[in-house]
Amino acid sequence: MDTSELHSGRNGARDVRVWDRLVRTVHWGVALIVLVNGFADKPGDAVHTWLGYTAGALVLLRLAWGVIGTRPALFTAFPPSPRRAVRHLRDVMAGSRDTHLSHNPLGALMVYNIWLTLLLLCVSGYMMGTIRFFGVAWVEDMHDLLFDWLMVSVVLHLAGVAFDSWRTKVPLVRAMVTGRKYLPKGVRAE
Ligand code: HEM
Ligand code: HEM
Repeated sequence: MDTSELHSGRNGARDVRVWDRLVRTVHWGVALIVLVNGFADKPGDAVHTWLGYTAGALVLLRLAWGVIGTRPALFTAFPPSPRRAVRHLRDVMAGSRDTHLSHNPLGALMVYNIWLTLLLLCVSGYMMGTIRFFGVAWVEDMHDLLFDWLMVSVVLHLAGVAFDSWRTKVPLVRAMVTGRKYLPKGVRAE
């Protein structure tokens, strides 16, 4: 098969710009910080604190971009809707290969969950440094628990990305690196 044809789209395949630079920078920046803060630096020291707040700031920036950013990045392109998620799951189980230019409805729920968990990690981290909550066990437990939940979420996130790339034959990780989603011939994109 002539791959230049694939990229020119002459056999029905398309290469569509989806994730802008801000989305990609925030994604890989946050992922790196989570790994460093979870496994590499000293919990609670200055590096941990400032990296944590940087991740929080990146999430806030991304949330603003959900209102004023490019089309696939907008909240309206991936609304948090359990009903749509259930319908999507049914379609997938019925063998659908349809894909989405933004996040699919199940992926969308995971994305909102990850953002909320990261913000709560920053809030609980902040609380640990205040006079009122310094040394208070439940606050520390909450920080630990939120991190454990984040790790469960990230594992599910990676499994979801791998499954959907396999199901639709759309290389999703490539899209988060280059910004472009490659849609093979015959794959319908919403
Ligand atoms: C991406 C955000 C963050 C992640 C992934 C993260 C992750 C973690 C992890 C894995 C631990 C070790 C928990 C344990 O087993 O004891 C920890 C501890 C800690 N974190 Fe964070 N953290 C984040 C943000 C923050 C922020 C913003 C602050 C402060 C403002 C903070 C303050 C602390 C403190 C003080 C501890 C030590 C708690 C203790 O003594 O048990 N963290 N964090
Ligand atoms: C701690 C690690 C990670 C976290 C917290 C995380 C979090 C997220 C979040 C919040 C989004 C939504 C992006 C947005 O709309 O702005 C996302 C999307 C995505 N992530 Fe991650 N991610 C992590 C690691 C990874 C890794 C290691 C990969 C690849 C191997 C990956 C691949 C993707 C892909 C492909 C998407 C887009 C999915 C789609 O097309 O709907 N992520 N991730």
